[in-house]
Amino acid sequence: STEMNHSNHRMDEEMGHETTANLKSSKGEHELTFPKVLKPDSLTDNAVVYTIKAQQGKTKFLNGFETETYGYNGRFLGPVVRMEKGMNVTIHLVNELKEDTTFHWHGLEVPGNEDGGPHKVLKAGEKETIQFNVKQDAATLWFHPHPMHQTAKQVFKGLTGLLYIDDKNLNLPDRYGVDDLPIILQDKKFTDENQLDYDQVMNADGTTGDILLINGVIDPKLTVDRKKVRLRILNGSNARNYILRFNNDMEFQQIASDGGLLNRPYNTKTIQLSPSERAEIIVDFTKVKTNEVTLINEDGVNVLPIHVKEEKLPSKQIKQNLNQLQVSDEIKNKKVTKKIKLAGMMQHVTINNKKFDPNRIDFTQKQNKMEVWEIENVKDAMGGMRHPFHIHGTQFQVVSIDGKEPPANLSGLKDTISLEPGQKAKIAVKFKRKGIYMYHCHILEHEDNGMMGQIEVN
Ligand code: C2O
Ligand code: CU
Ligand code: CU
Repeated sequence: STEMNHSNHRMDEEMGHETTANLKSSKGEHELTFPKVLKPDSLTDNAVVYTIKAQQGKTKFLNGFETETYGYNGRFLGPVVRMEKGMNVTIHLVNELKEDTTFHWHGLEVPGNEDGGPHKVLKAGEKETIQFNVKQDAATLWFHPHPMHQTAKQVFKGLTGLLYIDDKNLNLPDRYGVDDLPIILQDKKFTDENQLDYDQVMNADGTTGDILLINGVIDPKLTVDRKKVRLRILNGSNARNYILRFNNDMEFQQIASDGGLLNRPYNTKTIQLSPSERAEIIVDFTKVKTNEVTLINEDGVNVLPIHVKEEKLPSKQIKQNLNQLQVSDEIKNKKVTKKIKLAGMMQHVTINNKKFDPNRIDFTQKQNKMEVWEIENVKDAMGGMRHPFHIHGTQFQVVSIDGKEPPANLSGLKDTISLEPGQKAKIAVKFKRKGIYMYHCHILEHEDNGMMGQIEVN
């Protein structure tokens, strides 16, 4: 797939498209910080109340220059919002921006009305309160805006937050900021005036930048204890794919994908994340012989230099049985009832040859009924490109990719599946709640350009 990416770049160059910006290596100048955990307005065993405000502000990234940014309850990015299965959650939403926004809970199985798609606009200065019950198991989810044609810009300016569904009985590293660390990857392109001026830097085929921010920190480095540490990695970029590994080529364990825990830890040396995908990994830093190791991207770009402290500390024993997901033979043999064809590049992107129309329902499905969808990334005369396909309000399971069983890291719960041109996948999709949900390409410029449809669950 690395080759594929490269051939895409070449093709873009031949066609005169702006190519994906080359990422600069982190200079390791700033210690990584972690978003605050959001304090509940109130909390009991089975209910929690939060307030989340979309705000604008100024953030210093480059040599002390102030950049105009957006954030949730702050100037840039958002806090981690935590909840547990079974809880009744109330969230007061406030739009303090000078423009429309929505609050979308990516990966959360909420009723369509609470999902924050493009229909649920909060105008500048407006407030709303939503309520739902959490019906899914532990997972690393996230939230971001979703207003029509403005998603890419608002995410680029900083509106991204994490949402954790917690479970106290997992025996995984869970000390936030100590051995349970969020890693939000976002590449940005700054203007000469040190601004995140989306209109100036945007690319209709996916905006990429040369500057990688992790949790909003530029040129980050990380100091960790010499023990097993859990990293929850979110690709919160508009368009960039990452293929990550460590520079010493050490193995680590992937324990979770988008929607929660895999059945068992998956030993690997690399993970690939397309926009909106998450992976939780356990890294055993006792295996690092020196004190330094670096998380790198393809082409050897330094993403995160890591300093491992000298003293060895005890680690949690990671269970071998983490989950019991399966795709039954019945589902494997089920007829495909919905077909999705992803096609095009730039402004010409479509799903099933159509652009998004907010007044058109493209599909319907019965609540709690499992259906098999076929997702195809159509290879066209120009070759096409990778599209990460995402469905709101559900966590699905991959039945097959090009007729073959999915690899272990794609066998858990997913809300996004990233396909190369020519690839075809079958996925088993069930919605637990009713309402209207979006499905779309998670290259945010493609979404804004209409590579989106909607399904009504009733
Ligand atoms: Cu991250 Cu429509 O979603
Ligand atoms: Cu979503
Ligand atoms: Cu796309």
